[in-house]
Amino acid sequence: MRIALVGSGYVGLVTGACFADLGHEVVLVDNDEQKLAALRTGNVPIHERFLPELLARHRGQRIKFSGDLQAAVRECQAIFIAVGTPPTDRGEADLSYVESVAREISGAVDSYKVVVEKSTVPVYTSQWIRTVVIRNGAEPSSFDIASNPEFLREGTAVTDFLYPDRIVVGVESERCAEVLREIYAPLTSGAYYSRSDAIPRPDRAQVPPRLIITSTKSAELIKHASNAFLAMKISFINAVASICESVGANVHQVCDGIGADSRIGPRFLNPGIGYGGSCFPKDLMAFRAVAKECGYDFRLLDEVIRINEDQRHRFLRKVRGVLWTFRGKRLGVLGLAFKGGTDDIRESPAMLLVQELLREGCRICAYDPAAMDRAKEALNSSVEYAAGPYEAASGADALLILTEWEEFASLDLDRLRKLLKYPIVIDGRNLYDPAVMATHGLSYYSVGRPAALTEDLPAGIRTNKRERP
Ligand code: UDX
Ligand code: UDX
Repeated sequence: MRIALVGSGYVGLVTGACFADLGHEVVLVDNDEQKLAALRTGNVPIHERFLPELLARHRGQRIKFSGDLQAAVRECQAIFIAVGTPPTDRGEADLSYVESVAREISGAVDSYKVVVEKSTVPVYTSQWIRTVVIRNGAEPSSFDIASNPEFLREGTAVTDFLYPDRIVVGVESERCAEVLREIYAPLTSGAYYSRSDAIPRPDRAQVPPRLIITSTKSAELIKHASNAFLAMKISFINAVASICESVGANVHQVCDGIGADSRIGPRFLNPGIGYGGSCFPKDLMAFRAVAKECGYDFRLLDEVIRINEDQRHRFLRKVRGVLWTFRGKRLGVLGLAFKGGTDDIRESPAMLLVQELLREGCRICAYDPAAMDRAKEALNSSVEYAAGPYEAASGADALLILTEWEEFASLDLDRLRKLLKYPIVIDGRNLYDPAVMATHGLSYYSVGRPAALTEDLPAGIRTNKRERP
């Protein structure tokens, strides 16, 4: 099928590349001419596993890039909207890009088209898109609107797309459902998985995936509710981690115990410095705003957001507790991206912590495998950037681990200890076993677990624990 993807950002690019790999003809549309020029010359603007391979495989064959949205609409049967939906000052999703794309699509509807919202949008958006397309002249019977939310995690977006837990399609007509069924048939029939050139199957993936067909409103709510639930899981375990710290328990043992209950499950229970990224923070605010507008005060979400912010402040207090004072301290920082495997720094808790530490007078030497270029644009120029984790640690009063990159979990600990000015590691992502750190002579502080200490510190910090009277 011929498919247009409007918006060639993180979601549009991955979705378009994966559709091409399923055998469809894809036009990737964007209004950023510079981005298009770069894409045409083979540049891959984001760090995403398997994306360069897929683009190289299909560029100039099943994928083309275009700035002409109307031409793309005319030549395609399905048009996926994947432009950004950033938050407004009031926390609602700003849908003006979606609206302007809908307006433009309208003028090019010359035969039956399916317009699919892929961007995360509040309930009722598909109805609004329909209204806008009709207002601008398209025949009501000449198109349908579908909602097909993405559940792509940055860093693993390609495999999340090709090996999904489920595919959700919200439609209002059988004709439209049929188009979406055809688009996803290579996955739902299992045909893709028997191909020798298929992108390798990740652990845990169940194939073929289930296609869930719902109304458009249900599909829109599935997206917001899924992200809100996942964020709630993270805030829940972070709250439990705080209690673990108070009583001297180990949050990983607690996670193991609760995650073994199949009704709960072990995933998305990693404690840390809180969630970030372009989705959870904005989607929670947007979902809360939607609920309010519908007359429901979703205070549970307020608490999820509050715990998430508090988690960062707790970490900062932990760093202060270990270092005593901040001014002039040199800190090595591992990780700037909002999570491992991506160069994305949007709403990154690591970036927010670095900014706070800079305000407190710390000197920062940071390293991230992919996000340093983006970070340089956002951070003040006093930050030094290292060529690797050991350089970041060199001469530092302490090393902070702020992003869960795999490569940070397998450092040469003896080398690290020798390079640090003081043998202190404060880990916001719990990448190491405290006992192992202690055997390498490192004082190690993490989240929700007792500290491993090689030096004497005032009580409280020492055990991470409030003693009972
Ligand atoms: C997407 C979704 O749109 C968002 O709702 C979801 O929650 C997360 O993923 P993302 O792909 O991360 O956003 O956005 P971004 O990387 O900013 O890409 C959006 C692209 O759309 C950009 O390349 C931008 O140039 C393009 N765009 C924007 C258009 O082509 N036309 C517009 O009118 C606006
Ligand atoms: C999220 C959704 O998971 C995905 O389905 C889609 O809707 C887009 O938004 P993404 O933001 O790319 O994906 O990454 P995700 O893996 O969900 O992580 C989000 C944040 O939560 C990161 O900052 C990550 O470090 C943090 N996180 C995740 C935790 O702190 N603990 C966990 O157990 C999992």
